Amino acid sequence: MKKDRIIGVSPLFLSLAEAAVAVLRTGDPGAKMRLSRRIAAAWSAGEIAEIGAAEPPMRPARPKVPELRPPREMPRRNIGRGPKGGVAGRRALYHALAHIELNAIDLAWDIIARFSGARFAGEALPRGFYDDWVKVADDEARHFALLTERLAALDMDYGALPAHDGLWEAAEATAHDLLARLAVVPLVLEARGLDVTPGLIEKLAAAGDTEGRAMLEVIYKDEIVHVATGKRWFDWLCARRGLNPEAAWRELVARHFKGAIKPPFNAEARLAAGLPSSFYEATATVSPGAPGAPGVPGAKRTSDRPD
Ligand SMILES: [Fe+2]
Ligand SMILES: [Fe+2]
Repeated sequence: MKKDRIIGVSPLFLSLAEAAVAVLRTGDPGAKMRLSRRIAAAWSAGEIAEIGAAEPPMRPARPKVPELRPPREMPRRNIGRGPKGGVAGRRALYHALAHIELNAIDLAWDIIARFSGARFAGEALPRGFYDDWVKVADDEARHFALLTERLAALDMDYGALPAHDGLWEAAEATAHDLLARLAVVPLVLEARGLDVTPGLIEKLAAAGDTEGRAMLEVIYKDEIVHVATGKRWFDWLCARRGLNPEAAWRELVARHFKGAIKPPFNAEARLAAGLPSSFYEATATVSPGAPGAPGVPGAKRTSDRPD
């Protein structure tokens, strides 16, 4: 395969930005996953000489399936026991999560390529920025592999169910500005994943799916680090632009994120990722006194992640 030859034979001639674009232009999900892991290994081994600059496509290459449909048409994910839940619900859950991870692979390479030539207050992004997002891309590729293995164990391939395009729509809405991208992708969408994953882990445990539970526990720990990575670079960029991070985040979310910032929040995981409650609670869209409002009992944990 051409992409394997690029990485396998002449890694020294490939910049990181070009490698990122090669992943974005790879449509087959398994090939996208494997290429991501190989580039990440080559980057950490020092086999890719430079960061370089390259223009990413507005939309990454993707397979013909899954068919993309509106969020309301997604299959139900009842993962409890019983005729309406059980295996069908867990297949739907793992399929939806695999789709999130495939998008997350592309999002990590997109942030590397899209902002590779940018200057911020006259400064290029430091090498640590690239190290961090290559690590995120590698993690997301590993998560995709874990989820598709789990799906295969339940006799399903990725692509067998429909999926929706919400994550890439967020990428397109923030393609013009790294600060907007960081405000929305890691600090809204991945942070939302932290809110809902413990509930999924509990449900999988209750359903007796010990492999699935262990897998989501691994993913959950990694995702805390991803949100922390987003926050670190959001703060870095705010400092370059002389912005207050909390005020800047609120303004960017109001402008570029169509959905709601909804409680209940996983305050402990968010804090571990560098997001104190002061950062997001004032932005939460919940009417005072509603279930789930701060201080009001009866908060219902949302049952899935923001795919
Ligand atoms: Fe992930
Ligand atoms: Fe992530």
